[in-house]
Amino acid sequence: MSGELSPIDKAKYVAARRAADLVEDGMRVGLGTGSTAAWLVRCLGEMVRDDGLKFRAVPTSTRTAELAREVGIEVVTLDEARWLDITIDGADEVDDDLALIKGGGGALLQEKIVATASDQMVVIADAAKQVDTLGAFPLPVEVIPFGMQATRALIEEMLVSMDVMGRDTAWRMNGDTFFVTDEGNRILDLDLKRIGNPRQLSMVLNQIPGVVENGLFIDICDQLLVGYGDGRVELRDINAGTVSEDRVTFVDEENLFSDLND
Ligand code: 5RP
Repeated sequence: MSGELSPIDKAKYVAARRAADLVEDGMRVGLGTGSTAAWLVRCLGEMVRDDGLKFRAVPTSTRTAELAREVGIEVVTLDEARWLDITIDGADEVDDDLALIKGGGGALLQEKIVATASDQMVVIADAAKQVDTLGAFPLPVEVIPFGMQATRALIEEMLVSMDVMGRDTAWRMNGDTFFVTDEGNRILDLDLKRIGNPRQLSMVLNQIPGVVENGLFIDICDQLLVGYGDGRVELRDINAGTVSEDRVTFVDEENLFSDLND
């Protein structure tokens, strides 16, 4: 990557850069998926190379695993790690209670398994991800291929009795074919516009047999780090009930991770 970063990339970078400082020697770390998480992986790779940071990482997708290995991070499976000290991941939406919509990158299943097998989950995001009410971002639902149209019909029928504003659903596509997750499943995106009761919706969705998991992360995220294009990072800790601010200084942007192709 070279050239001037856009304000949104700067915001993602500073959130990721600040979160990287939470990783200490000997930790077992879950690495999220997406463009913000990719900044984190690059920052951590730099700390491994330049500062001798030693930790083991469990990636949440093949994409993240490839990048982590590329930058010199030791990658292990979740079963090898058994339990994680921290997971750091991006999000598509986050509300005031730190409830999330995730899965825009199609990795929600591994992301949820990894995050819930961690002592703490930290979300890194730019300010645009903060919302009063979840639902403007279509909610991804991971569905088993067997009987997927019947599962879609059941989901649509169930939505009629839910507190949501929209009910359109669409299979996520990859060109002319269905998008396939790392686990070989499909993603049904639910355009709900506004989710009145995320906890109820999440529970009801997961009771439908063909549904593997949904992108609502409730009571999972412990800390939110929101980055801004000017280098500010707002840190919210839901357990401590604290909000604080920090600042990340940009190094020469032209040379930021210039050794990596993005
Ligand atoms: C992937 C995710 C990502 O965390 C989410 O889509 C945010 O991505 P980005 O950091 O690129 O905005 O849930 O499944």
